[in-house]
Amino acid sequence: MATDYAEIAKDVSALKAPPNLADYADLRSSWNWDEIWAELDTPDGLVNQGHECIDRHATGARANKLAMIWQSQDLAVEEYTFADLKRETDRAANALRSVGIEKGDRVFFLSDRIPELYFAFFGALKLGALAAPLFSAFGPEPIAERVGRADGKAMVTTPKLLSKVDAIRDDLPSLETVIIMDGREEHELADRDISWSALIADASDDFEIEKTGSEDWSVMHFTSGTTGLPKGAAHVHNTVVSHYATGKYVMDFQEEDIYWCTADPGWVTGTSYGMFAPWSNGVTQVIDEGGFGARRWYETITRFKVTVWYTAPTAIRLLMRSGADTAREHDLSSLRYVMSVGEPLNPEGVVWGLDAFDLPIHDNWWQTETGAIMIANYPSMPIRPGSMGRPFPGIHAAIIDDEGNEMTEPMAEGQLAVRPGWPSMFRTYWNDQERYDSRFQMGWYLTGDKAKRDADGYFWFVGRDDDVINTAGHLVSPFEVESALIEHEAVAEAGVIGKPDDLAMEVVKAFVTLNEGREETRELMRDLNRHCRERLGPAVAPREIQVIEILPKTRSGKIMRRLLKARELGLPEGDTSTLEDD
Ligand code: PRX
Repeated sequence: MATDYAEIAKDVSALKAPPNLADYADLRSSWNWDEIWAELDTPDGLVNQGHECIDRHATGARANKLAMIWQSQDLAVEEYTFADLKRETDRAANALRSVGIEKGDRVFFLSDRIPELYFAFFGALKLGALAAPLFSAFGPEPIAERVGRADGKAMVTTPKLLSKVDAIRDDLPSLETVIIMDGREEHELADRDISWSALIADASDDFEIEKTGSEDWSVMHFTSGTTGLPKGAAHVHNTVVSHYATGKYVMDFQEEDIYWCTADPGWVTGTSYGMFAPWSNGVTQVIDEGGFGARRWYETITRFKVTVWYTAPTAIRLLMRSGADTAREHDLSSLRYVMSVGEPLNPEGVVWGLDAFDLPIHDNWWQTETGAIMIANYPSMPIRPGSMGRPFPGIHAAIIDDEGNEMTEPMAEGQLAVRPGWPSMFRTYWNDQERYDSRFQMGWYLTGDKAKRDADGYFWFVGRDDDVINTAGHLVSPFEVESALIEHEAVAEAGVIGKPDDLAMEVVKAFVTLNEGREETRELMRDLNRHCRERLGPAVAPREIQVIEILPKTRSGKIMRRLLKARELGLPEGDTSTLEDD
């Protein structure tokens, strides 16, 4: 269906600075990860994400360049240069060391987006500890599950969130230390808690980074999967090589950019692209403590003259809901490049960017496990709306069949797989090596996603391996149906599942939420059904469409089709720890 939209090509010849990736084919054929490594600062082969992102800029020409522009919930602003970041993170590293944190220890973070979170996080990395961020909206159960799974030694949190930790800490024998970042809120300390401000007040800002090699642990993110308990995908310091490279060639970072990634560091996008990619490239980034709000977001872009913006399809759909006119009421002329990730970006969303910002939205694809972007649309390459783009130059991605053979025929559907060995590949699922090993088979890393590749090497997402609907022998992509549904002017969001059926095995069932001011009427439902049949044909169009108030989503914004399905079938809902409205 996406092919209805014309390819969008941008004339890059008139740009002030040519894109870093000027010629895809050329860069791909000459790609050499060793050359990327050589652009970093790795004395004696040692690499530390703290050094690459902060210290190497703090002592050079970028020392007084702004690294972080922080906007608080109530719109106060604080600014930190790379030299400031070095001082604060060195101090944080000493503070953590003073309470017994050592190389290899798992340090968890449960905090809103305040500067101290970033200082403490990089302090842990400089110390060689494994930094494991949690999403601040988690309740006690998911926190206990994750800390327990990785034998977390310390938790760094804030007064506001402490009660969630207190609720479970006695059940977690490994959790020796709870540190409260108490500088911004009044807080009365319990005897067993440690005050971050007191630690910092006593800490020197002179710190020698732990000698970490490329295979030393750095960051761990928990990822839910569609079933089962969360898995701790652990990464190593070498990951920064991919962060730097994708920052340079996908985000197209230029020295003067003001970059904004809207993701929270509780999720991998918020660390890989809200910390490591911009700062390893020496780029200034905006961090907003506040959450989504169309006006707040547009005002943030205007206020800080954001040039490069990385966000998520759900956010784009919410912005679409508030209308392109709302965008047009703001001066967004600083923006030069907009990207999104995390779930399929409907072709309509790509094209809506042209209406709202005069810029198409560039989709890219990756996973917690891949650590960095694997497939992307690039500024110098025409966009095919609905496609995730082409593999990053140093990455061999393929569509494979069940035997691990590459399916070279255009638009053949199979599993999306990647040849192992890229720098940011996860190195284990913590305490679950067996599950890790099961992801590597037949010489491939198996992503668990289904996709297609067209004749020109663009990849098209079909769905998670377990979400694809089989109706009367025809495979139907829920994404395709959802895209069609949200093209209807009354529909805000859509989630589509396969509903078991005696005759056809499964039929397509759609759940939709409506735009503000729209109501479920017989006319509307008739019109929606007609629209789908027209757009998709009778074999693919949903057999049933049901209007609901809210679609269940993961905290990172992905529609949880499995939950829709479980509810539809009256089955147990499984692990709902990442749900938005649990
Ligand atoms: O199914 C794919 C979907 O999100 C999964 C990865 O989710 P997570 O590990 O939480 O990583 C988030 C960091 C991106 C993928 O297996 N996904 C991600 N990007 C896209 C996508 N699906 C479609 N299009 C994308 N661009």
